Amino acid sequence: MGYSKFFNPEETLDRAGIEALQTERLRATVAHCMGSEFYRKRFREAGISAGDIRTLDDLQKIPFTTKQDLRDTYPFGIASIPLSECARLHSSSGTTGNPTVILHSKKDLEQWANAVARCLWMVGCRPDDVFQNSSGYGMFTGGLGFQYGAELLGMLTVPAGAGNTLRQIKFITDFGTTVLHAIPSYASRLYEVMCEKGIDPRRDTKLRILAIGAEPHSEDTRKRIEEMLGVKAYNSFGMSEMCGPGVAFECPEQNGMHIWEDYYIVEIIDPETLKPVPEGEVGELVLTTINREAMPLLRYRTRDLTRILPGECPCGRHHKRIDRIRGRSDDMIILKGVNIFPIQVEQVLMQYNELASDYLITLDTEEGNDSMTIEVELANSFIDDYSALQRLERNIVRMLRDEILVTPKVKFVPKGSLPQSEGKAVRVRDLRKKY
Ligand code: COA
Ligand code: AMP
Ligand code: ZN
Repeated sequence: MGYSKFFNPEETLDRAGIEALQTERLRATVAHCMGSEFYRKRFREAGISAGDIRTLDDLQKIPFTTKQDLRDTYPFGIASIPLSECARLHSSSGTTGNPTVILHSKKDLEQWANAVARCLWMVGCRPDDVFQNSSGYGMFTGGLGFQYGAELLGMLTVPAGAGNTLRQIKFITDFGTTVLHAIPSYASRLYEVMCEKGIDPRRDTKLRILAIGAEPHSEDTRKRIEEMLGVKAYNSFGMSEMCGPGVAFECPEQNGMHIWEDYYIVEIIDPETLKPVPEGEVGELVLTTINREAMPLLRYRTRDLTRILPGECPCGRHHKRIDRIRGRSDDMIILKGVNIFPIQVEQVLMQYNELASDYLITLDTEEGNDSMTIEVELANSFIDDYSALQRLERNIVRMLRDEILVTPKVKFVPKGSLPQSEGKAVRVRDLRKKY
């Protein structure tokens, strides 16, 4: 069947078309945001009104929105429409501090599915493909986000969810999976287990396209994964605050990720001065949603470090391209596709009198699976009872798992035995295998 190369007409807008649409949508979004108690107050405090935002340059007048704002207004304080008109929420991990909540209306969910379908279509997914998703479902946006996008595109979907690698591989071989969504470290784990089981992904599977994202990875990693699995791997960028996956995605040229500018206005700022960086330089990505109803975010500081790639892409899309994510301007860790702040670990540990205040988080790779080990010093009152120590360990692991959604190992060490560093304590050591 002769399919069109593009999923949506907006994909091929030229720069003038994109900017005209952005201007119109920015004005409408700002007016709509006045339905939010949070933004009404923000604008009042900044001495601006919705009518002051008329051009794309006027965006600079609006204060940034931060993750802390989301936490401070937990759970529903930024909503721009009544809760009765919302259809779903996604929430981050965390029980000790306030997690973040992102609300979606029915229309938001449709637009989100459209963006994901557009990304998948762009890299050659078609209705006769079989799409398997190894993301966690539920609150992880990589689950439902890819699910609805793939369904909208019309593929047969296999909502496998995270984990259970043997079953995952059985699905791939038995159902003839052609398109897989996996984070890079898990794609490598899949390959290792396939090898152990004598399965050659090139010979024994129909895999041809891989969407990889959710954690930073290098061009070398991509190439190695492509070689191992016999696929083309496309970098997929998204975040829950912007809905989830579908924010930016590589096209078949594999030269940076097109960020959908009919959905987002992109800025790159210096995280220290908060001023725009010169064109093409690395800084922090700031995004304004211009196609959201329940909870638009204006100038949201993503904390992700990247740059806008100069020049035009030969694929015919004029939406700007962002480079691979280089890291973060905060201390967030991404482990197994799960976002973790060291303070979350600290807050759990602090609840135990048996523990002293020093701890060290080590991230490593064991048998292809990433791991977290937390060494923590016991308080002076040494517990002489082995079974009491075991109970304590189990307890802490359980509390940590509830807090950070991955299962760490906890090791007790004597007080004063963790390496002391000058100045700020080193809390995280990353020894993960870079594939
Ligand atoms: N995606 C899919 N499966 C993963 C994974 C990932 N990112 N990370 C680990 N796994 C697999 C492991 O390989 C293991 O399966 P196996 O032993 O059959 O190979 C299984 O999940 C459990 O992993 P383990 O490390 O023992 O458990 P955990 O309690 O520390 O982690 C997970 C639990 C994996 C369920 C949790 O980390 C998770 O849900 N991760 C996925 C997050 C996600 O989808 N992010 C994408 C957002 S776009
Ligand atoms: P979440 O809100 O759980 O979807 O996590 C979003 C975060 O994951 C982003 O802010 C990035 O830090 C990270 N992330 C998502 N996609 C990528 C990617 N393709 N490359 C690097 N990091 C990514
Ligand atoms: Zn392109």
